[in-house]
Amino acid sequence: MSDNIPAADRAILEQIVAPAAPQKKHGMIVNEGYRYIALGESGCGKTSLMRAVVYYTLMKRYAGFALVHDTKGIFAEYPKSVQVSSTAEWIARGWKQGDTPVVSFRGDPRRDITVSAQEVAELSLLYARQGIIVRENGVDVWKPNPHVTVIEEISEAATEGRKNVAAPAVLKLAEQGRKMGVSLLCTTQETVNMPAVLRSQATSITFGRLTGTSLNYLDQCNLPPEMIKVIKGPKGGGLPNYSFVLYIKGNDEPWDGKVHKLSEETVSMFE
Ligand SMILES: Nc1ncnc2c1ncn2[C@@H]1O[C@H](COP(=O)(O)OP(=O)(O)OP(=O)(O)O)[C@@H](O)[C@H]1O
Ligand SMILES: [Mg+2]
Repeated sequence: MSDNIPAADRAILEQIVAPAAPQKKHGMIVNEGYRYIALGESGCGKTSLMRAVVYYTLMKRYAGFALVHDTKGIFAEYPKSVQVSSTAEWIARGWKQGDTPVVSFRGDPRRDITVSAQEVAELSLLYARQGIIVRENGVDVWKPNPHVTVIEEISEAATEGRKNVAAPAVLKLAEQGRKMGVSLLCTTQETVNMPAVLRSQATSITFGRLTGTSLNYLDQCNLPPEMIKVIKGPKGGGLPNYSFVLYIKGNDEPWDGKVHKLSEETVSMFE
């Protein structure tokens, strides 16, 4: 599948998933995962972009599976995934042969079942801590269990002060996931709703269409001034839908000034 992704799209996805590549450090193979935030207004293409990132990570085998908190819509954002109402239902079910390695936690209003970002993040932490036990030279050795966890609309997991995350497990994932090879993906519609902790832990952020007060807040985000100018758009009306700029933390190169857009081909590949 990855061979069908146009080169321009692949180059973007590569930069986002790069921190999840296994690396050799002090004689050990480590995978630090990435923390990616997709920012932008409703309908600007955040979920489409995030879905491509998730599947790309799986295709590269940088992660074994994905857990997705997806309770908003009537239809699942990951139509090919295994869809369950709650973490309890998932634990009872487990993996079956032929499953796509993506689980969507959807809740079920008709059965009055809800599932929170906190519960999905707790499950992710549990898998991370358990790791995979591998027998090596007659002894059981703990190995990380790299996976990705997707939290749609992080502001719902944020406190009112917006400085913190109400779901402490999401916060923990952002802070500790790195040590256990967990990648975290979140979306948010408003710049101001991006919790400071997530912002500081993020390895990459895509800025899509933003308008009004969201644009003003950008000045506080410690971004290259050129990048802010482009996100604000030529007439201060923001980028068009589906366009975005990519911020990669720790990239010492001057920003290349590029505005990206995933091809329709790539978007529809994962829908
Ligand atoms: N690069 C693209 N080219 C063509 N169509 C796109 C592209 N990106 C997204 N779309 C389409 O736009 C629609 C909205 O995209 P998406 O659901 O990703 O937006 P969103 O930012 O997640 O919105 P919301 O905030 O409401 O969740 C989808 O139907 C998707 O197929
Ligand atoms: Mg969305």
